[in-house]
Amino acid sequence: MAKLITEEQLAVQREYITKLRGENALYAQRTGRARSVLTETYGCQQNENDTERIRGMLRDAGFEFTEDPHNADVVIYNTCAVRENAEQKVFGRLGILKHIKEEERPDMIVAVCGCMVQQEHITEKIKAVHDHVDLVFGTHALYKMPELLYRAVKEKNVVVDIEQSDGAIAEDLPIMRDGSDKAWVSVMYGCNNFCSYCIVPYVRGRERSRSADAVMNEVRELAANGVSEISLLGQNVNSYGKDLDEGIDFADLLTMVNGVEGVKRIRFMTSHPKDLSDKLIDAIARCDKVCKQLHLPVQAGSDRVLKQMNRRYTKAQYLEKIDKIKKAIPEISLSTDIIVGFPTETNEDFEETLDVLRKAEFDHIFSFIYSRREGTPAAKLDFALSDEEIRRNFNKLLDVQNEISKRKNEAMVGTVETVLVDGVSKNDAAMLSGRCDNSKIVNFKGDKSLIGKYIDVRITEAHTWSLNGEYVRETEGR
Ligand code: SAH
Ligand code: SF4
Ligand code: F3S
Repeated sequence: MAKLITEEQLAVQREYITKLRGENALYAQRTGRARSVLTETYGCQQNENDTERIRGMLRDAGFEFTEDPHNADVVIYNTCAVRENAEQKVFGRLGILKHIKEEERPDMIVAVCGCMVQQEHITEKIKAVHDHVDLVFGTHALYKMPELLYRAVKEKNVVVDIEQSDGAIAEDLPIMRDGSDKAWVSVMYGCNNFCSYCIVPYVRGRERSRSADAVMNEVRELAANGVSEISLLGQNVNSYGKDLDEGIDFADLLTMVNGVEGVKRIRFMTSHPKDLSDKLIDAIARCDKVCKQLHLPVQAGSDRVLKQMNRRYTKAQYLEKIDKIKKAIPEISLSTDIIVGFPTETNEDFEETLDVLRKAEFDHIFSFIYSRREGTPAAKLDFALSDEEIRRNFNKLLDVQNEISKRKNEAMVGTVETVLVDGVSKNDAAMLSGRCDNSKIVNFKGDKSLIGKYIDVRITEAHTWSLNGEYVRETEGR
């Protein structure tokens, strides 16, 4: 059984939502305008999904939303700790907010939540350096946001809640989703893998799965409301269900979601290579709605580095899995994460990473320069390469991959692909953009009334990062 935040605990928070709504009504009477809140999210989809919960609670509490900090009564930053630059961005933003608060909006409530503040040294720094922050709450306190915000509004002291929890899951929190065609559904929280470079297990806690019933209820409700693309989220979805006694693993869950009427596309992330089972490969191949796309982070190619990273697979084992997937699902689109410059990584080690790229032929990679995370085992290791050498390797990685990505995109020219139209293209306001089953972005000319629909496009041109196409027809399919 999934351990849950109790109904009583949730009822307390609903009372605080009511109290906040009362406060907000008084504020509106007094000032002639509703209290407005700005939320900003850093980090992964799971953080985005958490922000959707935060926004749901804020909406129910009577807040309006704004994107302008000069106009905000409350600002909430939902933060990421995975790399230093994510943290620096937040500190930069806090610096700007300090001026706005001092000069224009002295009553502004500034809140910082999420992964970054779950680290004690960061919360101490915020308290010491950013005394305009009124509220700090970690990933385990998310469901308590109404109470904490109410206290921050009422009290003059700084409110802090970064307690680690026992891992209980809060179900049925309000939610305000971004968009109406696609939705994220978290199936599990936390991570048990402790890769030696990674902060996530420390800031998100141990793995815990939602019950299959809870996941399925959420998916069914989404489908009933017209959402057709579901992305199932977890730091390591392949261990879904291991902590429950339901006898349902991730492959079973995929199969169950595949059976929901109204759902047309299913995506999921992330899979850990060591836990990618034949059963899951089979489920991806068999389930017609599961997109033929797999994100399988390899991180590095050298067995020595992989060992030091505590990834628990070798390069050969990884490539074997890739072969198996390609055999089972020839049209599969593959992506991965790569870390360049792990402390002990040498140029020879790095060559092994390039070799993985050439052999696996990913469609797309997400590459990162190693960032030292305080409290992780890798933080104690010495660097084999200089910053300059690491930067050079990083650029080389991009060169090698860009050529592969372009080649794989070129192979799609002339084919007809079904895309879900997302909206106006980011590159060109005269174009629309959508994603293929394999997640590649296609830009094409078309009427805005197509947004939210599934259409067929013929691929006409390939770029490194995207495709161009032309409208063929609307389709009921996917
Ligand atoms: N659970 C997922 C995602 C974790 S964070 C997974 O295991 O794949 C996303 C990516 O950030 C990781 O895959 C890794 O490539 C990168 N990352 C994590 N810690 C990092 C660090 N300290 N420095 C640089 N990149 C890091
Ligand atoms: Fe971090 Fe590794 Fe867990 Fe992914 S699997 S979140 S990289 S510890
Ligand atoms: Fe960042 Fe937390 Fe996600 S550290 S990557 S926001 S789990």
